[in-house]
Amino acid sequence: MKKVIFAVAAIGIFAACQPKTAEVVEVVKETKTLRAGTEAELAGMALYNNNCGKCHDLPVIGEHSKERWNKVLPPMIKEAKLDAAQGANVTAYVNWQLGL
Ligand code: HEC
Repeated sequence: MKKVIFAVAAIGIFAACQPKTAEVVEVVKETKTLRAGTEAELAGMALYNNNCGKCHDLPVIGEHSKERWNKVLPPMIKEAKLDAAQGANVTAYVNWQLGL
């Protein structure tokens, strides 16, 4: 019986230790102390604000993990028909906002 209780407790502790996406996003928000933006990052911010809210609401950067952004941003830059230089600036802006 003791062994069963131990096993159940161990599973509970293990489950509690799994990071959830929401928690990861919280960490990103809490540790974010942004330095002043570079010229590229600020140019990216303008491009982002002007182009990324056309098909859906302007995404809140801190609501997605950096892993998610790595996947989503390249196709979205294409969707927004930005050229390579503009895409690089938008990427720099998103990374800056993520505190990278
Ligand atoms: C031409 C339309 C269009 C433009 C412009 C556009 N998007 Fe999107 N976006 C979509 C569509 C459609 C979806 C949902 C379908 C999908 O996930 O592929 C989406 C989904 C997203 C998501 C959610 C993805 C997920 O599943 O977590 C994010 C974040 C995003 N877009 C960011 C951006 C950013 C940043 C830009 C500007 C560079 C942008 N979008 C410009 C069409 C667009």
